[in-house]
Amino acid sequence: MNTLDPAAVLQWFDQHGRHDLPWQRETTPYRVWVSEIMLQQTQVTTVIPYYQRFMQHFPDVEVLATAPIDQVLHLWTGLGYYARARNLHKTAQIVNDHYHGIFPPSLEQLGGLPGIGRSTAGAILALSMGQRGVILDGNVKRVLCRYYAINSWSGEMATQKKLWHLADQATPHDRVASYTQAMMDLGATVCTRSKPACTRCPLADSCKALLLDLTKSLPVSKPRKTLPVRQTFMLICEQDNSEVLLEQRPASGLWGGLWSLPEFSAFDEVQTWLEHKGASFKSCWPVVRHTFSHFHLDITPVVATLSRPQISEQTAGTCWYPLTPSSDDTRINLGLSAPVKKLLQRMAAHQENHHDSYRLL
Ligand code: ADE
Repeated sequence: MNTLDPAAVLQWFDQHGRHDLPWQRETTPYRVWVSEIMLQQTQVTTVIPYYQRFMQHFPDVEVLATAPIDQVLHLWTGLGYYARARNLHKTAQIVNDHYHGIFPPSLEQLGGLPGIGRSTAGAILALSMGQRGVILDGNVKRVLCRYYAINSWSGEMATQKKLWHLADQATPHDRVASYTQAMMDLGATVCTRSKPACTRCPLADSCKALLLDLTKSLPVSKPRKTLPVRQTFMLICEQDNSEVLLEQRPASGLWGGLWSLPEFSAFDEVQTWLEHKGASFKSCWPVVRHTFSHFHLDITPVVATLSRPQISEQTAGTCWYPLTPSSDDTRINLGLSAPVKKLLQRMAAHQENHHDSYRLL
């Protein structure tokens, strides 16, 4: 496995990174800390005017610590996630009262302050204290997940652990401030969530996601807790006890181009169709759930039978599919979706039982 080369990232940063953001001037722990908190859930362009106004009003930790919380909240208005402003104020008071106004230069102590997690603590160490702090913010996670083609959600404990290990391994001992800013910039401007600009990426040669054509599907998104449920009725219309009507689906969209059972969004529509075709309703089977990445499809199979006169009826985009095909029947090569395949097998078994029971009579 290729490990991420910090030298390539640094070389890219020197030419293409961001070098004149307001918090990159006078990189004191106080200024860097405020910027990191503001940037936690907010874009750089939104943060800049807020940051400048904040610094004018609260130029150092003592002024912030002694300001009324209402003034802090007022200057935060519009940035959202107001717990960040309250924590900022609390931390300023702790630093002012317990650390003589000096931010403690250790990961453990910084990480123990309200609103400062492990990655923010790493950023403060690296960007303002010349220490080898390690960061793992959203941008860095995305770069690492793609570079190493990590195929699990980064919120899982085991994945977090792996990512912290990889982030630590990649962090150089020299130029750690530049490297830290470089990884943030790379994630924000090149390795973006959608449409990453891989042609401009300094890691493209050895990025596993790019090599495996996985940049679209990585990083893995957070699993949704409750998927929406859609309902459909699938008609299993058989004729001659041997064939079932299939329709070809449109080329694009769900199951694009596959052959499927006729679908209806309501039972009424099934009934209208059956009347129109002169088919007879037999029974409904219990609901079958098929789960896609973004929704559940609850399928109610409806069994019907078409009597002999309609056997020859055939239009483009439809076919009669054999329930027990012989191996030389070309229709068995048709592409079927997974639930349709299952329903056809069930129907074939059903027919067989039916025949058996007749034989027993
Ligand atoms: N996001 C978090 N920290 C940042 C920084 N220092 N520069 C740009 N974006 C960031």
